[in-house]
Amino acid sequence: MSELAGSRILVTGALGQIGTDLVKSLREIHGSENIIASDIRVIPNHPCILGGPFSVLDVLDEDRISKIVENENIRVIYHLAAILSAKGEENPELCELINVVGTRNILEAAKRYSIRVFVPSSIAVFGPDAPKHAPQITPLNPTTKYGITKVDCEIMGMLYWKKYGVDVRGIRYPGLISWQSPVSGGTTDYAVEIFHSAISSFQSYECFVRPDTKLPMMYMDDAIRATIALMDVPIESLSDARCGYNISGFSFTAEELSSEIKKHIPNFICTYKPDIRQRYADSWPNSVDDSVARNDWNWSANFKLATLVNDMLLNLKR
Ligand code: NAD
Ligand code: SER
Repeated sequence: MSELAGSRILVTGALGQIGTDLVKSLREIHGSENIIASDIRVIPNHPCILGGPFSVLDVLDEDRISKIVENENIRVIYHLAAILSAKGEENPELCELINVVGTRNILEAAKRYSIRVFVPSSIAVFGPDAPKHAPQITPLNPTTKYGITKVDCEIMGMLYWKKYGVDVRGIRYPGLISWQSPVSGGTTDYAVEIFHSAISSFQSYECFVRPDTKLPMMYMDDAIRATIALMDVPIESLSDARCGYNISGFSFTAEELSSEIKKHIPNFICTYKPDIRQRYADSWPNSVDDSVARNDWNWSANFKLATLVNDMLLNLKR
């Protein structure tokens, strides 16, 4: 039985790519009424809004965070509200504000109300000087504003844990691939967009990174399983990686992804027109070493490229 059973849970940024899948899984586990989805925007027919309690919440609004935490008796927060890499480079001030100040506001509430918090990190914490197979511990010198905010949040999370005992946990997600929600604003978006284009009547996609671009990726099912597992693991199991565990799914080049899709849709054509996002992708590792997560909380991924492509196409066609 989960240590968090019966806890009421708040999810910020719930209408985004991860929140859409995470809220659904949490509601299945804990009961719909115990999961408060929240976001700064409202999408009327979104499953998170139709499927249970929803509150409008801007994570820059400290009073509203407190009000929701008190009124809804929140004991756990999954803090997903953020600006992703590509959008973050277009608007670095906004990226810093939402990602860093928003996270600080959530951590302050967590300190005040003794809340366990999940703060996602990213492979974007690594910069060009990190080994291309990125270890858990290595210098973190990202060259994107987004990456810098993610390093800041890992450091801030550790500070709240060490100084105030706030139970902050986080994962350095690879690029995530999913079918339940559209994506926008990230560098790894091509690995999702390609599926939508492949099943459209055009059966073609213009990819914004080079064919040889290889990044760590993960299917959303594995990411959600990892997230919930990390939040459920006894606190004694966690090491100093607690605010940014490397987790690995698999790595592939854009061309390998396109070839795998072609096995299912022979007429599919992928062309390549790299844009500014190539630079962000080039600054990130090709793969990550997740041995610390494996050791601390028995993490291991299920999906590989072939099973992911099969599952994505099956679900999107349905
Ligand atoms: P997303 O962009 O799909 O969703 C983010 C959500 O946050 C959106 O629904 C947006 O409306 C909301 N939001 C923006 N500003 C807000 C504010 N001020 N207050 C409240 N909500 C606000 O992002 P995602 O892909 O779901 O990512 C969630 C988290 O996971 C982020 O921290 C992201 O950095 C991290 N992450 C994602 C990936 C990925 O591939 N999706 C990879 C690594 C890390
Ligand atoms: N998938 C994210 C992005 O591309 C990385 O954190 O922004």
